Amino acid sequence: MSTHGGHGAGTAIAPHEPVFVGPTRARLEQLFSKYPTKQACLLPALWMVQEARGWVSEQAIGEVAEALGLTPAYVKGVVTFYTMYHTHPVGRHFIQVCTTSPCNICGAEDVVSALLEATGCGDLGATSPDGRFTVIEVECLGACGFATPILVDDDFIENVTPEKVPGILQRYA
Ligand code: FES
Repeated sequence: MSTHGGHGAGTAIAPHEPVFVGPTRARLEQLFSKYPTKQACLLPALWMVQEARGWVSEQAIGEVAEALGLTPAYVKGVVTFYTMYHTHPVGRHFIQVCTTSPCNICGAEDVVSALLEATGCGDLGATSPDGRFTVIEVECLGACGFATPILVDDDFIENVTPEKVPGILQRYA
């Protein structure tokens, strides 16, 4: 399943237009047949929304809730619990930086600053003016011995230093 890749693909579609129509509806129905209940499809259904739109809007939350027989409040709770779901539009490449204590001691904040400057994002959670990047801080990525680890879309990159940041960003158009 694709996760963060290809954000730009569907972002031109207005967020209020339904996601689950045509082939996407067919994929959702297929998903229903693989899970014991419709409700169990929540996470993959949200991925489908994010793949199609690049983020999960309030309207999409309502649509998922209706399709799966859940309340919008429940779906929203799940969306906001996981950092992997975006509740607002993000850049084509989504960068997550671990800033939990072990990485912080090793200079994670300097990596964050370098990323915010080199991408032009300026602030955490903001998208760069060219639409390429969004940078956020996250909790431990499970690579504490390789500070600072970052995730760019699905790419896990360890031992990132401020000096390496420009070279890393060059790989992402
Ligand atoms: S604290 Fe940064 S990866 Fe664990």
